[in-house]
Amino acid sequence: MLKKIINLLNLEETTLASQYWQLRKPFMKKCTQCPHAVAEYGDPFSEALLLLKKPIIEQAMEETLLPTYSFSRWYFNKGELPLHSDRPSCEISVTINICGDKEWKIWMKRKESKAKAMALSILPGEGILYQGMKYDHWRKPYRGRECMQIFLHYVRANGPFNSHFRDKRQSFGVPHGK
Ligand SMILES: [Fe+2]
Repeated sequence: MLKKIINLLNLEETTLASQYWQLRKPFMKKCTQCPHAVAEYGDPFSEALLLLKKPIIEQAMEETLLPTYSFSRWYFNKGELPLHSDRPSCEISVTINICGDKEWKIWMKRKESKAKAMALSILPGEGILYQGMKYDHWRKPYRGRECMQIFLHYVRANGPFNSHFRDKRQSFGVPHGK
């Protein structure tokens, strides 16, 4: 499953998210996964989106899901996403474009398949639904000034990873492992 979701956030939600993350940006931690980026795990704003948008993601997947966690990242000039695949808490994921000043493709390649890698790009408010355990994914260095993306992660309610509900935390909106 690899699909674009148009209007995942409406214009007002996209603007709100963009303004919120502009205010948070100076206080965010250096990203441990991506160079030239700052990131936040489980921020309450993005966790609220994780819960709010669950029905749309379920409709796209035609399956009941359980939310695990959200991740929010500002990428800056030369920022990139190294090639990787995801852990079980990210069985079903959506990356949402919040704002950016240059088009930026995410590359996806189905693991253990001879199919070519696919490049997808989205506008602010749009999302890409993907299964990050099954697809290697990456982004090449960003040529714009800055770009903000929010990731929402879920597991199938009846799937093999449903014990990862809430990423095994006590509540939403708290750090990993809490
Ligand atoms: Fe990933």
